[in-house]
Amino acid sequence: MTNSTISAAPAAIQWIGESDGFLRLIDQTLLPTQCVTIDCRNVEMVWEAIKMLRVRGAPAIGIAAAYGVVLSLHDAGRHHSDSPSAAARTAADYLATSRPTAVNLFWALDRMRYLIAAHPQGQAGLAEKLLAEARAIHEDDRLMCRAIGRNGAELIRDGATIITHCNAGGLATAEYGTALSVLFTCQDQGKQLHVYADETRPLWQGARLTAWELTQRGIPTTVICDSMAAHVMQTRSVDAVIVGADRITARGDVANKIGTYALAVVAKHHGVPFYVAAPSSTFDLSLVDGADIPIEQRDPAEVIAPYGHRIAPSEVDVYNPAFDVTPAELVCGLITERGVISPVNRESIAEHFKQS
Ligand code: MRU
Repeated sequence: MTNSTISAAPAAIQWIGESDGFLRLIDQTLLPTQCVTIDCRNVEMVWEAIKMLRVRGAPAIGIAAAYGVVLSLHDAGRHHSDSPSAAARTAADYLATSRPTAVNLFWALDRMRYLIAAHPQGQAGLAEKLLAEARAIHEDDRLMCRAIGRNGAELIRDGATIITHCNAGGLATAEYGTALSVLFTCQDQGKQLHVYADETRPLWQGARLTAWELTQRGIPTTVICDSMAAHVMQTRSVDAVIVGADRITARGDVANKIGTYALAVVAKHHGVPFYVAAPSSTFDLSLVDGADIPIEQRDPAEVIAPYGHRIAPSEVDVYNPAFDVTPAELVCGLITERGVISPVNRESIAEHFKQS
């Protein structure tokens, strides 16, 4: 693994070179105190980077995994007897085991598998075709995020105060983010905003990553502990909550970072509109009920000894679900690249995807 410290923030995900190149990622576990890139030159390194949240956020892990499939062809024939297409299929299956909740991972890998299936013998040029598909997945996400920003910005007035949770920004996607794309687009349009960023325990994606992205853009930002959001809504004027998503079902139930559900309940109680911004690649229309979304359980150490700093007795029992499910009834609108779905229910979602 090659590490280098850089002063100006590079793109969170970059493919360097042609089909024999490599994947360069910002190691998000080190932000905001260090902006360091890691160069992934084999599938195992990409799997580890996804698992350990060096690259994280639903669209970003799909993009990284797609590039990971390209890397599998570097070794094909050299270290295993597999044909290139068999090596790519094996890599796709392996990368799919990295994290279970964000459906974008499986969506991106299915796009790669479709291409592999069209080249069963691994004909010449497969590596170039897989790289072109990974690049297309990357670019599609960039365009979808920009469109989400434009659609969501129409909902936000000049001078608005917004609460967001976790990180659904440029680090989590190809470029502008989903929830943060709405805020960045508002800023591009000249609107003034004030954002409360939930710190997002256990791993502080809000305090570390969202606050970093927003302050870099000069957007007034206040970090709060997750447990303070109710108090903020009770005592200050909040116009909207906007969050991202890891998987949205056919009826509009939303899996997102743990703590999102509590935020949605509090928003409902205070009459604050709760919006979810996500590309179509985050919808899993094969599932209806959010209870069927697989919820990732993570290492107890993240709760009691985050980043190696122990805060609870080592022998205590720990529960560490990485995501929760917000029922559709609490979601005021789903902001996609195609428009805004509101009200949120099975019929409106089906109509949204039928029309476009
Ligand atoms: O565990 P993480 O950091 O990958 O969780 C990320 C989130 O929950 C994001 O809100 C979601 O993936 C949307 S990213 C545009």
